[in-house]
Amino acid sequence: MNVYDSARMADVLAPLGFDQSDRPDEADLVILNTCHIREKAAEKVFSELGRLRRIKEARAAIGKRMLLAVAGCVAQAEGEEVLRRAPFVDIVLGPQTYHRLPEMVARASRGTGAVLDTEFPAEPKFDFLPEARAEGRSAFLAIQEGCDRFCSYCVVPYTRGAEYSRPAEAVLAEARALAAQGVREITLLGQNVNGWHGEPGEDLATLLTALARIDGLERLRYMTSHPRDLGESLIAAHRDLPQLMPFLHLPIQSGSDRILRAMNRGHDRDDYRRLADQLRAARPDLALSSDFIVGFPGETEADFQDTLDLIAEIGFVQTYSFKYSPRPGTPAAALPDQIPEKVKEARLAEVQALLHRQTEAFSQACVGREMAVLLDRPGRYEGQLLGRSPYMQPVHVRNPGGQIGDVVRLRITAVHPNSLEAIPA
Ligand code: 5AD
Ligand code: SF4
Repeated sequence: MNVYDSARMADVLAPLGFDQSDRPDEADLVILNTCHIREKAAEKVFSELGRLRRIKEARAAIGKRMLLAVAGCVAQAEGEEVLRRAPFVDIVLGPQTYHRLPEMVARASRGTGAVLDTEFPAEPKFDFLPEARAEGRSAFLAIQEGCDRFCSYCVVPYTRGAEYSRPAEAVLAEARALAAQGVREITLLGQNVNGWHGEPGEDLATLLTALARIDGLERLRYMTSHPRDLGESLIAAHRDLPQLMPFLHLPIQSGSDRILRAMNRGHDRDDYRRLADQLRAARPDLALSSDFIVGFPGETEADFQDTLDLIAEIGFVQTYSFKYSPRPGTPAAALPDQIPEKVKEARLAEVQALLHRQTEAFSQACVGREMAVLLDRPGRYEGQLLGRSPYMQPVHVRNPGGQIGDVVRLRITAVHPNSLEAIPA
């Protein structure tokens, strides 16, 4: 979502003459788009700000100005603190106000003091954003934002605010514009993306069905979904829409029912098992990925073992696992029985080793299989192209019999550390 937001900020600023640069020392404006989900991410903001301060001062010394903005969820949660600890910051803005960036930049340029805007405005920012500019063949499209689930460990409901769904027509218009620019694959984004709803009778399944009719759009994905909001219609969409990729990020977080309850997830491990079965019945080649948190307050060895068992039973092809990080203002941060750092580290290492073995085994099982690959970039060698499998694995191939933007059928021949190798099928 932050990658999407950053791209949209660039879109908003383009009419003012701003262009993207990957060199902060040459930039008139640097926006640090921040994440508050775990302590580590939030800490990085202040060390990065220290680095940017030196660049800002070096520019000032040669008579050049650099405006420095902090955007995103750290700005939302700790806006005042950012300005107190880093008074050289010119603009602080939350994730719901970046459509107002042009006005903020104008105000900050007057040099009358820092601009702080961490409101949750009544007007949705989406109504004020210009048409998205596509880069490449695969694009993100935010359809939903915010979260009403309030998992006990998570800051998102506080930093991104209440759930909001964009109207179907706005989503379809953006998707058509992207397809017209050569985009072949769209990943629909939302903190609770399958909580998306439109007019009565419209849910994520009807939206996906409408998107599948757009000329040129060959692949659809959505993330991140919550097991509680994964209903029959969406499962049926996995059966009925060939454009919907057979790869679903469906976080469970823990395999222990006791911990799932303490996390306020609203589902247990059997609910998840049932969903996995139904999804695989609808789409036999469907693969699952998940997020896991280890060391949640009160997690015992037995709870942790439940997580390992569940992972072994379900089988995940790609996963993200994290040490529990107490977040300010969340109910879990106030729980007794916080788990010592050393225990969290040991559990993380163990769970990651198991998850890594599953990812490896899946890659190995792909050898010999035919797969549809979306070619999206030139490779390093003459005639080589890079693409993505339905499971997001990077694939490289020589003379694939197609060009960038094509979906071609390839046979996987080998597994490399971070990619698969293929030949035309
Ligand atoms: N500590 C550790 N991991 C967290 N996540 C969210 N909040 C926390 C936290 N306080 C993880 C969850 C979520 C992912 C985006 O980040 O696994 O699915
Ligand atoms: Fe956070 Fe996801 Fe839970 Fe919402 S559903 S509170 S975003 S972990």
